[in-house]
Order: sequence, then structure tokens, then C-alpha cells
Amino acid sequence: MNPSTSLPDAKLAPQADSSVLQIWGGHPLHGHVKISGAKNSALVIMAGALLCSGDCHIRNVPLLADVEKMGQVLSALGVRVSHQGDILDINASNITTSKAPYELVTQLRASFFAIGSILARLGVAQMPLPGGCAIGARPVDLHVRGLQAMGAEVQIEHGICNAYVPGGGRLKGAKIYLDTPSVGATETLMMAATLADGETIIENAAREPEVADLANFCNAMGAKIHGAGTSIITIVGVPQLHSVDYSIIPDRIETGTFLVAGAITRSEILLSPVVPDHLIPVIAKLREIGVPIIEEGPDCLRLLPAETLKATYIETMPHPGFPTDMQAPFMALLTLAEGDSIINESVFENRLRHASELNRLGADIRVKGNAAFVRGVPMLSGAPVIGTDLRASAALVLAGLAAEGQTTFQGLHHLDRGYDRLDLKLLQLGAKIKRVQEVVTPGVTSNGSTPPVTIST
Ligand code: UD1
Repeated sequence: MNPSTSLPDAKLAPQADSSVLQIWGGHPLHGHVKISGAKNSALVIMAGALLCSGDCHIRNVPLLADVEKMGQVLSALGVRVSHQGDILDINASNITTSKAPYELVTQLRASFFAIGSILARLGVAQMPLPGGCAIGARPVDLHVRGLQAMGAEVQIEHGICNAYVPGGGRLKGAKIYLDTPSVGATETLMMAATLADGETIIENAAREPEVADLANFCNAMGAKIHGAGTSIITIVGVPQLHSVDYSIIPDRIETGTFLVAGAITRSEILLSPVVPDHLIPVIAKLREIGVPIIEEGPDCLRLLPAETLKATYIETMPHPGFPTDMQAPFMALLTLAEGDSIINESVFENRLRHASELNRLGADIRVKGNAAFVRGVPMLSGAPVIGTDLRASAALVLAGLAAEGQTTFQGLHHLDRGYDRLDLKLLQLGAKIKRVQEVVTPGVTSNGSTPPVTIST
């Protein structure tokens, strides 16, 4: 049976803030989980749809609050957006303004990436700066420098990034080297170059599968992008793009999260559709620590119960290294591994805040700088916990699935932004998990502390 067919189309945002998840841990999972389309592809492909004045029919779109919010950003630009099930229809034939709304862009970092497509299409864009967030400062200097190299004038005033092409013409192809292989900067510049005059070469480009997905989407509209998925991307600008029907790749981070859910509960589960090649570092680490994973066919993984979990060393890196988005879920898993693990977060500067919440569940983790030292414990015990960002929240839910007794998780607004009905999918795998309304005093969380920063990653 395909479990996703019976998942209700939950209305996400309104109920999330006042709800908590109650989890009764210690129950093994079983069955099949259908993996949704990739969040980070969906968001940037929505930005990419601004490049085209025809119809974009996008399939396999995950049901996420972030997708809803990105739709609102596009609507505010005058773009027609309609969403039904996992299909999104976008028509940007009539972009009525080049200025994106402050209150939405500051909540959703990926919406800033649309500066590339708006500028390419209109020759002018005004984008509020996305600002820092719970996991780090997250500058946009590489986006800005790349656009300047393509001939744009860019000024940052009053928190707005104002960009325009002098003389009202097109951006010009350029050779751009990125100091660090930023996913967002690669995507912004790739979109900008799609409609530029001449050839753009992006060196030290991000190699993430979502970058290649965006390139495939643009190419399906008639763009000429080569090398996406490698560190050198070449884009030959074209005058215009045409309508498209495109399906988004499966979410590798959702897949990894369910793999860890299976591993931490010592379960057997089946996951599809997946692209195993997108998960090489995650699967390798799981196997290394003792979790058997079998590739069943080209798009299906079977995870078997581990006998024992062994400690390991993890360092997060740009793709194809170990993904920073899987760091928090793995930390939850390693709390129950035999021995001492070390996790080094080298992509973001402040992405270990879940460690103290995991300790609340009985884990033994010390954090020094960007390293977490995880001493395995025999068991976790349920407690109230708070998620500080999307992946930290997933880690706490996973730990709750393994912890003895009841865990109350607060931070559903993070989870709903980036996971397509995670609690319902876990419920269908046999987890004892329930979303309940909780009365919370404004400004104070259920365990008495002040609420964490809420911005999407
Ligand atoms: C994307 C993903 C996010 C993931 C991250 C790293 C989306 C919507 N989000 O975020 O889930 O965790 O990649 O895989 O796709 N940097 C600069 N200057 C810049 C841009 C980035 O210094 O102009 C730095 C960042 O501070 C960070 C590093 O580059 O330390 C990587 O960030 P980046 O790859 O840009 O992440 P995002 O694209 O924001």
C-alpha cells in the first residue's frame, strides 16, 4: 500500500504554533514510507519559475508551510500560483512589481534567491535582506558579488538589496569564482545567467542535487546550463524560456531523517522513492556505525534493525560530503551508540543548539566551539523539549521515538516548514505520536523559557 495516499492535506500554519507533539518512545516502526519531493528543490524551482512567462506545471511538490510562504512571495509579485495536492502551477507572465515583501522574505531565506530570477527577467529587483537565523549569520555577499560581476549595480540600503542593470538591458555573462560553494549563491547566479547575454562560468559551485534539479528544471524550459552537479557550471544565456512540466526529485534529507528514525528505534522500514546516489555519505555513515541498509531496486531502500550502534566521527561538508542538514538527526542517533562520537559542524557557525535539549532527554553531550562530544548512553528518557530550528526539531522527535516514556516536543512550526507531515508519516509507521493543542502564555514556552528565533533554513 502506498501510505501517503491516506495522508490528509493538513492545513499547516494556523494550528502549528499552539500545538505540541506528544511522543511515547520505545516502539519499533514498521512498513513503508513514501518520501516527498525535496524542500530545497521546490523552493528554488518556484523562484526559477519567475524566469519564464509561460506556464510552469511542477509535480511532486511537498506539502510544507515554506512552500506556502514562497507561494505568497510570488503572489505578492503579481504571479499566478495555484497548488493542488502535490502539483503547483505557476504563471509569471505578468510580474507587477520587482519588490519582494519584507515580512515574507525575512522569514524564508530561500526567497532571497529569487533576486537572481527577478533581476534577469525585469532588469531590476528589490529584495529585503534575509538576515541571520538560529543556525548562523548567513550572509549574502557571494550572491551580491556574483550579480555585480554580471554587470548589476547593487546597493544595500535600509535592509533592502537594490539591484538593477544599468541602461535597462540584460545582465552580462561573466566568470565567477565562489569563495565557498554556497548552495544559494550558486542557484541565484545560475538563474540570473540563464537570461543573460553571453556565457557565465561559475567556479567552485555547489554540487548539491538540488542545484542540479534547478538546472534540469531551467533546461526543460529551454535554458542552456551544463555541468550542474559538478563544481564548474557553464550557462549560455538565452533570450527567453518556455512553458514546462517538471517533477521534483525526492527529498534526500527527509529520506535520511526516516533512515535515522528506523535506526534509532531498531526497526525494519522501507523507503521510496529515493535516489540512493544523493545519500551516499548518509548511507555510508549508517553502515559504518552498524545499521544494515539494502538497496532494493533503483529507487527503494530497506533499513534493517541494528544489533549494536558504534560511535563514529562526523564532519559536515558541502555535497558530496556529509550534509549539515543531517547533523542534528545523527547526533540524536549517536547518543545511543556505544562509545564516544565527535561531530564537527563546519558549514554553519551555530548549529549545535539541539545538544542541550538532547541532554534533557538523558544524552551525554558536551559542546566546545563547533564540535560536539557525544558519549553514548544505554537509554534516553522522555521529557519536554523545544526545537530551535528545522533539523534540530527533527532530531528531538527522533530521540523522543527512542526515549522511554513520554516526550513533549514544542516547535512544530519548524517541523511543518520543512517536513511534509512528519508526524503523520511516523504514525503510519506505528509510532505512538500525537499532535495536541497546548495553551501557551504569549512570549513564554511551555517549559518556561523564552521562545527561540523562528526562521526557516
Ligand atoms: C542551503 C539549504 C540549507 C542547507 C545549506 C547547506 C536551501 C533553501 N537551504 O542553504 O538547508 O543547510 O544550503 O547545505 O537550499 N555563505 C557566505 N556568503 C554567502 C552565502 C553563504 O559566506 O553569500 C556561507 C554561509 O554562511 C554558510 C556557507 O556559506 O556558512 C554555506 O551556506 P549556503 O550553502 O549558502 O546555504 P544556503 O544556500 O543558505
